[in-house]
Amino acid sequence: MSLTERQAIARDWAALDVAEMQSLVDSGLSTAEADLLIENVIGRYSLPFALATNFRINGRDYLAPMVVEEASVVAACSYAAKLFRQGGGFTAGADEPIMIGQIQLLDLADMNAAIESIMARKARILKRINNASGSIVARGGGAIDLEARPLRDTAIGDMLILHLHYDVRDAMGANAINTAVERIAPFLERISRGRVNLRILSNLSDRRLARASGMIPKQALAKDGANGADVATWILEAAAFAEADPYRAATHNKGIMNGIDALLLATGNDWRAVEAGAHAYAARSGTYRSLTKWSTDEAGNLRGEIELPMALGIVGGATRSHRGARTALKLLGLKSARELAKVAAAVGLAQNLGALRALATDGIQAGHMRLHARQLALAAGADEESARAIARRMIEEGAIRLERAREILREQRRAT
Ligand code: MEV
Repeated sequence: MSLTERQAIARDWAALDVAEMQSLVDSGLSTAEADLLIENVIGRYSLPFALATNFRINGRDYLAPMVVEEASVVAACSYAAKLFRQGGGFTAGADEPIMIGQIQLLDLADMNAAIESIMARKARILKRINNASGSIVARGGGAIDLEARPLRDTAIGDMLILHLHYDVRDAMGANAINTAVERIAPFLERISRGRVNLRILSNLSDRRLARASGMIPKQALAKDGANGADVATWILEAAAFAEADPYRAATHNKGIMNGIDALLLATGNDWRAVEAGAHAYAARSGTYRSLTKWSTDEAGNLRGEIELPMALGIVGGATRSHRGARTALKLLGLKSARELAKVAAAVGLAQNLGALRALATDGIQAGHMRLHARQLALAAGADEESARAIARRMIEEGAIRLERAREILREQRRAT
C-alpha cells in the first residue's frame, strides 16, 4: 500500500479525527509543547511511525503502532504475527499493576528490632500512605504491602531495604510510587530509629509481569525449499544457544526489545524503565538468559512463550502530553495499562520469532536486502508485482539503487 492508503486504513480502523491524523504527520509535538516537556529544548526530532499488522491477541485484532528507525523490524514483526495467527493468535496475560518502591534504612542499632517495629505497624504505614495518595487510591489502587529485605555485609555494612508494593492502576506509576516512599520515609525513620537514604522505585518490577504465548503450525514455517520441521529445529537450536550463552542472549533479547521499545516509544512510555527491568529479569537466575522459550509439540508445531516485567501506563506522562502517543493509544483501542502490557509481550514474542526465523534460514542481511530493493522499486513507481521482479534482478546484479530500479522499470514497460 502507498503511505496515503495506509493512513486511510489507520483513520478508518480507529475512527481518527483530523487532529489525530495531523498528529501522525507533525510528529505529534509542537516545538512549544516540546519546550514544556523537558529542559533546554532547541527543537524536535522525528522518527518513522508505522503499524505492525496481523496481531490477534486473546481473540482480538490489533494494529500495533511502532516508532523505530531500524529497517525490517516492522516487516519482521508483522510477518511473525501472521505466522502466530495461523496457529490461532497469541494468548497473553499481565499481572495486577503493582510497582515496588524501595526505601534504604541505615544506622540501625538492631536490625531485627527495627524490622519488628516496622512490621508491627504495617497496616498503619499503608493507611498513612493511602490517606495521602490522591487519584490512584480513588481509582482502586494504592499501597498494598510492605516487605523487609535486610542486606547484610554490603560495602558499607548492614542495611534494611523496605519494599513498598503499590498498585498504580493505569499509570506507569513512577511518580506515584516515588511520592509515596518519600512521604513515608520520616515516619519509618522515627519508628526504626534509623536514617533513610534512598527512596525510589525499582525498575525490576517483577510483581508486574506480562506474558504471551502462541503456536505456529509446522507447515507455516516452510521457507525457500526448507520444510517446516527443519525450520522449527533450527529455531530450537537458536533458542538453546540463547539460553546457554549470555553473549547470544544479549542479542536475542535485543531483538525482542526492538519490537517492545518501538511500541513503547509510539505510546509515550518509558522504554528505558522496561529495558532495565527486562535485562535484570533475564539475569534473575544469576546468569543472563533468554526472555523467550521455544519448543515443539507432539505434532511438530512450534510453540513460543515470553515473560518479562512490563511497567506501562496509558495515563499521565508523555501519554498525556504527546499527541502522537495519544493517537497511538487510540489506534490500539485499549481499556487498561494491563492490556497494553499484553500487547507488548506479544509484540516481543513476534519480534523474536521474526529474527530467529530469518537468522536460522537465510540470515538477516538477505531479508534487509530484499526489503530495501523492493522499497526502491516501489519508490521508482513499480506496482507490487513488478517491484518483486525488479528487486530480484537488482539483488542478482548486486546493484540496489533507485536509478537502477527506474531503468529496469522503463525496460519492463517498453517490453509490454
Ligand atoms: C537486530 O536489530 C536484531 C537481531 O540481531 C536479533 C537477534 O539476533 O535475535 C536480528
